[in-house]
Amino acid sequence: MKQLNLTTQIEVYENSKELSQPEQLLIDSAKEVCLKAYAPYSEFKVGAAVLLKNGKIITGSNQENAAYPSGLCAERTAMFYANTQYPETPVVSMAIIAMNKNGILENPVAPCGACRQVLLETELRFKQAYNILLVGKSSIQKVKSSKDLLPLSFVGEGLLKSED
Ligand code: THU
Repeated sequence: MKQLNLTTQIEVYENSKELSQPEQLLIDSAKEVCLKAYAPYSEFKVGAAVLLKNGKIITGSNQENAAYPSGLCAERTAMFYANTQYPETPVVSMAIIAMNKNGILENPVAPCGACRQVLLETELRFKQAYNILLVGKSSIQKVKSSKDLLPLSFVGEGLLKSED
């Protein structure tokens, strides 16, 4: 029997002022779009902002639906739109924030499993890791790669194409 130990590097900041100017701007964009979420069922609003290598910031919020599973998380709304509009442009960083009726959550919000899989695909697609900022009122967590959020991930290895 062998044992594998996985480690994840997470930087923790107490204040957004410790981050770079572009990262602070990205967090402000995520906050702004969070307010525009369509979340009448959960009343849990999420905002995501994606900074692209060309300097553009793409934002997205969660979009709910009366048929619950038809809704989409903020992270996928933002990332799918960014990848749709700029299919050749890698992502540099992403910020995610959430609020409920009491305002921005105290602790950093972490993306759901399905979103982690999508965030990883973008990293693999452009062969470039990007920073992810998980924002809370009392602290901000930063990982340098989506792989840190999804160890033992499914990366499509073994998927057979028609010519294989
Ligand atoms: N939600 C997100 O937008 N991102 C996540 O990573 C987790 C959950 C949304 C989905 C739903 O609209 C609401 O938050 C409550 O689950």
